[in-house]
Amino acid sequence: MRILVIGATGKTGAPLVAALAERKVPVRAAGRRPPAAAVAGVEPVRFDWTDRATWAPALDGVDAMYLVGPYAEDERAVLVRELLTAAPRVRRVVLLSILGVESLPDAIPMAAWEQNVRESGKEWTIIRPNWFHQNFGHGGFTAGLRESGELALPAADAAVGFVDTRDIAEVAARALTEDSYGGSVLTLTGPQALTHRQALDEIGKAAGRPLRYVPLAPEAFAEGMRAANAPGYTVTWQTGLFRLIREGANGIVTETVAEVTGRPARSLRSYAEEFATVWR
Ligand SMILES: NC(=O)c1ccc[n+]([C@@H]2O[C@H](COP(=O)([O-])OP(=O)(O)OC[C@H]3O[C@@H](n4cnc5c(N)ncnc54)[C@H](OP(=O)(O)O)[C@@H]3O)[C@@H](O)[C@H]2O)c1
Repeated sequence: MRILVIGATGKTGAPLVAALAERKVPVRAAGRRPPAAAVAGVEPVRFDWTDRATWAPALDGVDAMYLVGPYAEDERAVLVRELLTAAPRVRRVVLLSILGVESLPDAIPMAAWEQNVRESGKEWTIIRPNWFHQNFGHGGFTAGLRESGELALPAADAAVGFVDTRDIAEVAARALTEDSYGGSVLTLTGPQALTHRQALDEIGKAAGRPLRYVPLAPEAFAEGMRAANAPGYTVTWQTGLFRLIREGANGIVTETVAEVTGRPARSLRSYAEEFATVWR
């Protein structure tokens, strides 16, 4: 079995490639800038959602795929549907979606992607994770947090069951390589729900410096994104995600990581302690 991992350099894709390589499953690691071929069994391949010439070489000889959709591209839903059609040999698909997908604005394409995979005729598993630990230390919040010690977001004081992307990757690796997850929707969270204030307190303790959450009014947040020339759909989608948090939808905690992997989900505290130097 050969598995194509789209988004192989990303927060879930990179640990998934590692988890599959550890299982000695041949992996094709795809991205616009694919990772270097440093690991046995991992074959880097250039893949760009917006360049259809890159699709066939990436899909050649592939039996299963992990799909991180083209969320920042035009024609987002069409591209996913077309890729599924262009992959008749692929019989199993694991889709990275998002927690709360049912209540998000139409500008957020994950509901359409879910429908695309359900209608693809392939064996599918949908993963709906909560917000990632890695946003704090390996993503969009990291540089600002390190520089200013502050994170301003319109999340009020609502809790979020933050989840570690390595746990998402382990669940995805099982769904890709084992036969028990076809037709499953897996909602993944960490072991507890924390507000952003509590999360930054935890990270600050681990880093040995105070880190502060600044609650932002939703309109001020949207205005800041528009001032930074963010595309309209990004503004709609980000404000939609934070509305969901403020409404309490992200405060849930599930046992799915433990049920699937047989070990507890990683906590935010353990993530903060492991990567404490990132915020120093
Ligand atoms: N962050 C969260 O807290 C969170 C929570 C729940 C769900 N999600 C969902 O997870 C997904 C990933 O989000 P993320 O922000 O964390 O990103 P990420 O997975 O860390 O990075 C995006 C990945 O996609 C690849 N990529 C980007 N544009 C591409 C293109 N045109 N063609 C091919 N590959 C492309 C990037 O690699 P190259 O740049 O090398 O192409 C990278 O590997 C999104 O759908 C998001 O909604 C995120």
